[in-house]
Amino acid sequence: APAYITNQTNKAFGRDDRLDWDLLKSEIFSLTDEPTEVPLVINGEEVFSGREKAPIINPGNLKQTLGQYAKATPEDVDKAIQTSLEAKKEWANTSFADRASIFLKTAELITTKYRYKMLAATMLGQGKNVFQAEIDCIGELSDFLRLNTKWAAELYASQPEKAAQGVWNRVEYRPLEGFVYAVTPFNFVAIAGNLAGTPALMGNTVVWKPSDSSILSNYLVYKIFEEAGLPKGVINFIPGDPVLISEKVFSSSAFNALHFTGSTQVFRSLWGEIAKNVSEGVYKDFPRIVGETGGKNFHLIHRSADLENAVYNTLRGAFEFQGQKCSATSRCYVAQSIWPEFKKLLVEETEKIVPANTTSSEGLHSFLGPVIHERSFDKLAKGIDSIKSDPELQLLTGGKYNKSQGYFVQPTIVQTKNPSHKFMKQEFFGPLLTCYVYPDQQYEEVLALIDSTSQYGLTGSVFATDRSAIRLAEEKLRYAAGNFYINDKCTGAVVGQQCFGGSRASGTNDKAGSSHFVSRWVTPRAIKENF
Ligand code: ALA
Repeated sequence: APAYITNQTNKAFGRDDRLDWDLLKSEIFSLTDEPTEVPLVINGEEVFSGREKAPIINPGNLKQTLGQYAKATPEDVDKAIQTSLEAKKEWANTSFADRASIFLKTAELITTKYRYKMLAATMLGQGKNVFQAEIDCIGELSDFLRLNTKWAAELYASQPEKAAQGVWNRVEYRPLEGFVYAVTPFNFVAIAGNLAGTPALMGNTVVWKPSDSSILSNYLVYKIFEEAGLPKGVINFIPGDPVLISEKVFSSSAFNALHFTGSTQVFRSLWGEIAKNVSEGVYKDFPRIVGETGGKNFHLIHRSADLENAVYNTLRGAFEFQGQKCSATSRCYVAQSIWPEFKKLLVEETEKIVPANTTSSEGLHSFLGPVIHERSFDKLAKGIDSIKSDPELQLLTGGKYNKSQGYFVQPTIVQTKNPSHKFMKQEFFGPLLTCYVYPDQQYEEVLALIDSTSQYGLTGSVFATDRSAIRLAEEKLRYAAGNFYINDKCTGAVVGQQCFGGSRASGTNDKAGSSHFVSRWVTPRAIKENF
């Protein structure tokens, strides 16, 4: 492969000399040496004993139990709700400066004092390599916290433009009246922190159900909020059975908002439950529903594309973060004339990737870690097995998996001649890419195909140097992606640079990292005063 791709890819493999590797290793060691007991935190009180427990396991080393966490009972959920309503009385009247300083201090602590502990917890609990962990739990999380504070300050300052004689018009940006329920995913600590933290920044109180598969890092985030000065009860941390917790939360008349990231299927079902209760008049308000779900994100490679750039970005988009990004590249449309070379390079580069336990000394630099849990591994293994017996699929590389030590799946590339094959539609949430080759002259047809094949609308990219091809893709794929990239991979939105989110089955497109986002957590009141 050309040195260009190998060098660029190596950079993305996470060889960062600025890291203090010894410190990182010692944090990894201390988290593995002493098992962590993760409690529920309700009204600032840690509750552990007398609750059902579940183990926390390193997905890259299944023999390594990192500790256990307590699961909330129905009474715990009730208490978390009551507590959040109690805490609300003071928190909703706390000045923005006092609230903001807590979140800015959290960002400060994350990027300094707790940087290596956060990295270790994220790598051990979620199988990320150090580079991915740094992007997620240090960079992106602190960016969210800082940027949302800036957006909030601008929102609060935004007042009616027209002054009239004898009148004072103003807008008060009130927190929502009830409490917010945050249901957060395993794949990004930044998303979890943003989902629980931003409503609180805006004066709300939160019942936070973290994912079972990111307990270690998410608990640490909670503890850092607390150390930064978050008052008791403003965020209540309650891991446990999602069905039990959601049922309890949705039965409360004070439930006022769902802040969700996870699968489309779960989001639809939660929405349905809320809708049913709305129709029965259970809630005081019409709840806000903000959700980001799945994707079947595309790369479209036009015949005029810079080939090496297209290959390099496809490799990163599909396989970085183990493919466990809602934005990951999972279907790729390539022009026939450049396919042979594209395929050769992509396969060659992909075959250099060896999945490894990113928390072992030999795996620290690995590009690819394990997938998150057995459910995910089994789903991928089943998909990969089906390739062999499916005449419409051709395995180009990969196709191996092994869970004897960790949930390792080799990056896998498949080609199909059927553009409507389920591999072009279904989200696998792992390192599995499906390619479809189209005749160069059928570019317009392929645009229509991309738009209609998938139910999702999250991310997508076009690779081309021909400006008219770019323009056409931008026009015809208007709703196919909420984040649309030109000559770049369809992953890796940077907070403050590209706001993030999609519509269709991918969510409510409320755009994390945008100024609009903070406004979802307030309910404005217009006030007119006559003199
Ligand atoms: N915001 C993340 C990305 O763009 C998920 O890849």
